[in-house]
Amino acid sequence: MSPNDSATPLTNPVPLIEVVNISKYFGSVIALHDVSMAVHAGEVMCLLGDNGAGKSTLIKILSGVHKASEGQYLVEGQRVVFDSPRDALAHGIATVYQDLAMIPLMSIARNFFLGSEPTTGWGPFKRFDINFASRVAREELIKMGIDIRDPAQPVGTLSGGERQSVAIARAVYFGAKVLILDEPTAALGVKQAGVVLRYIAQARARGLGVVFITHNPHHAYAVGDRFTILKRGRSAGTFAKSELSREEVVRLMSGADELDELSHELQQFARTAARQEQDQLSVVEQQLAVSLEESDEMFHQEP
Ligand SMILES: Nc1ncnc2c1ncn2[C@@H]1O[C@H](COP(=O)(O)OP(=O)(O)O)[C@@H](O)[C@H]1O
Ligand SMILES: [Mg+2]
Repeated sequence: MSPNDSATPLTNPVPLIEVVNISKYFGSVIALHDVSMAVHAGEVMCLLGDNGAGKSTLIKILSGVHKASEGQYLVEGQRVVFDSPRDALAHGIATVYQDLAMIPLMSIARNFFLGSEPTTGWGPFKRFDINFASRVAREELIKMGIDIRDPAQPVGTLSGGERQSVAIARAVYFGAKVLILDEPTAALGVKQAGVVLRYIAQARARGLGVVFITHNPHHAYAVGDRFTILKRGRSAGTFAKSELSREEVVRLMSGADELDELSHELQQFARTAARQEQDQLSVVEQQLAVSLEESDEMFHQEP
């Protein structure tokens, strides 16, 4: 135990971002209904839920892609309305999508500064400042714990996990306070997923707030501090890690409840089907009886 442990600083009670009673409608589809959620500095908030639960819709609202139909969005206590992802970015909210906006044939340094290229020289001699870009990209990646051999190396030669970490390091460098990750580990193997989880933990250690969406309960439990569970567009609650066991997270995410419901439904169905079958059988029996009677009558008819 270090002497500093007792002096853990109080976390800022004002969340970095917060949504209050948010709803989102797409025509008659209710994608989200009355959902509230907050993310504080230095925490990883995991968003859990089945396919179609509304996770992506919620982060699209947070990242300025969609506007909520109802409810409020607050950034550091101030109400905001974002017209585009650019507005969200200007407030320090960066989203790393699964299909990363990177150009595989271009260098790590180039990709790191894609869209905000540093320049050197003046007038017709102005050009991309490759020295500055290479140095910063390398330094920033080292801060995230990744030692790239050569910033001139094409991004396409990096592994999936390393590519994610370049995207995360880039967001942090450009001043992100909140990092939103929609299933960053979904397409990765165990080892590469571990790499990404480490960067998520790094980002938290540097005081960022992280919104982490994953289908993998083990990934969620490894880095999550709090868990918000969405079910068919509604919040099923937010839980601190101390309130949930790994087994409960696994159960919540495996859809065990839904499976119980389904097996109940299947039993009902089997019973109704049996009853219908019985009904059909009796109809057939009756018809048979009638036709037997008829034939009997015919057989016994007096000539
Ligand atoms: N642009 C859209 N137009 C119409 N319906 C949508 C749109 N985006 C999402 N939905 C619907 O909203 C619900 C939640 O979807 P989504 O947020 O993608 O869920 P998740 O990411 O949890 O799988 C789904 O029923 C989906 O079909
Ligand atoms: Mg989704």
